[in-house]
Amino acid sequence: GTQVRVEAAQAMPVRALPSALSQCRQCDLWRNATQAVAGVGPATAGLMLVGEQPGDQEDLIGVPFAGPAGKVLDRAMQDAGIARDAAYLTNAVKHFKWEPRGKRRIHKTPAQREVDACNPWLRQELAAVAPKVVVALGSTALRAVTGRRDLALSAVQGQVLEVDGRLVVPTWHPSYVLRLPGREEQDAAFQAMLAALQTAKKLLE
Ligand code: URA
Repeated sequence: GTQVRVEAAQAMPVRALPSALSQCRQCDLWRNATQAVAGVGPATAGLMLVGEQPGDQEDLIGVPFAGPAGKVLDRAMQDAGIARDAAYLTNAVKHFKWEPRGKRRIHKTPAQREVDACNPWLRQELAAVAPKVVVALGSTALRAVTGRRDLALSAVQGQVLEVDGRLVVPTWHPSYVLRLPGREEQDAAFQAMLAALQTAKKLLE
């Protein structure tokens, strides 16, 4: 297949990303995915939200945060007063990693080598969009955005980090919120995510 090499130095406009991404063979995740899911949003958004990888729905539709996690994120963004179409939404990994369980496709956490293989694409998006603030949703996004593996999400959740001259606000992933066992835990995690989005919004002012 065609090998697509992405150099951080060669800037690619975000509108060129979907077709370039669709040819990426830097790891094997493309084999079992329907399509690569590029980021969506304004090419010059001040705010970028980074998730982990597309889920089942996103893989089929081709748009980030279109499924259940997206619903939770939408609610938090709405509560924070951030219009979804004002932010650039993307993921650390662009192909859906899954394993079959009966008729369902169950999400599998991407391996570090897959996060690393996909990182040039995220770097492209960061370079092209040049957001002032990045919200990292979950620990995969935190590692992908900061390039650091020594940061525990629980230690920096809701804080403002400065990475490469950019402001990064790490918070829980909406799927993590959904997976928490109790209603009270879910509410607390949702409120923390909402507070992080509010922090991000303030930083944009
Ligand atoms: N989870 C993510 O991290 N990203 C999506 O796009 C959907 C679910």
